[in-house]
Amino acid sequence: RGELLTLEAMSTVEISNILQEAAHFASGKEWRPNKELFIANLFFEPSTRTRYSFEVAEKTLGLHVLSFSEESSSVQKGESLLDTVKTFEAIGANALVIRHPENDYYEHIRQQVQIPIINAGDGNGHHPTQSLLDLLTIQQEFSSFSGLNVIIAGDLRHSRVARSNADVLTRLGAKVKIAGPKEWMAGYDEAYQYVNLDDELPKADVIMLLRIQHERHDGKMEWSKESYHQQFGLTIERENRMKSNAIILHPAPVNRGVELANELVECGRSRIFKQMKNGVAVRKAVVRRALDQY
Ligand code: CP
Repeated sequence: RGELLTLEAMSTVEISNILQEAAHFASGKEWRPNKELFIANLFFEPSTRTRYSFEVAEKTLGLHVLSFSEESSSVQKGESLLDTVKTFEAIGANALVIRHPENDYYEHIRQQVQIPIINAGDGNGHHPTQSLLDLLTIQQEFSSFSGLNVIIAGDLRHSRVARSNADVLTRLGAKVKIAGPKEWMAGYDEAYQYVNLDDELPKADVIMLLRIQHERHDGKMEWSKESYHQQFGLTIERENRMKSNAIILHPAPVNRGVELANELVECGRSRIFKQMKNGVAVRKAVVRRALDQY
């Protein structure tokens, strides 16, 4: 019914179809619904890129956008997530975009409402539209995923994009390896080869750096910013040893000088701002898919 909760639940054919439509939107495709439609953006966690790229996508598609703010809503009076989404359904929202700190929050609500839910990030669970925009960015560069060497590096344990990306890239034929502090690899080290960046980076086509999620570390960090950068980050010296056509991805926000050197954020092989631009095209495709039933 047009919902998008995780990519794990989706076939590679369906993922490829969404990427194809996103590529058309990126090339200027236009689409408008046949009638007046409303979409509600419910963000229970901070966001800049996801929230506002959904809003740009929705407004460009001619939708009415209901922009929910938890601080000024009846959540402050104790209203639950379920009653909040049922309220939006009752007043006429045709689809919901939700970011929430609880993993799998959608499992409690998806059977209780008839309108599609688009997951804009759940705890450290999933972030399917981020994965799709990462895939679109890789596809634009290399055309195919088959045989690509991809390293996912950094705070995998707390990341909501690492799991989806590792799984979907593998299903699409890429060779995924992981790097970073060993204790942040829990849940990945059996399925994916753990590598040292100094050994593997020169062979990689894509390095996907992940933000250190300080907000999920309970304030405890074993490394100073500088020592993390030197041990596990993309330093200028490491970048110099990358293949000439290899690219750098990062979902952002970036901790400049930590996951990667400040100078590399906008270097020739960085696609970090391209990822954000692609986020609008991907979200147009995902929103259009959700509204297909109308
Ligand atoms: N990449 C990403 O999800 O960024 P925001 O948290 O700013 O939405």
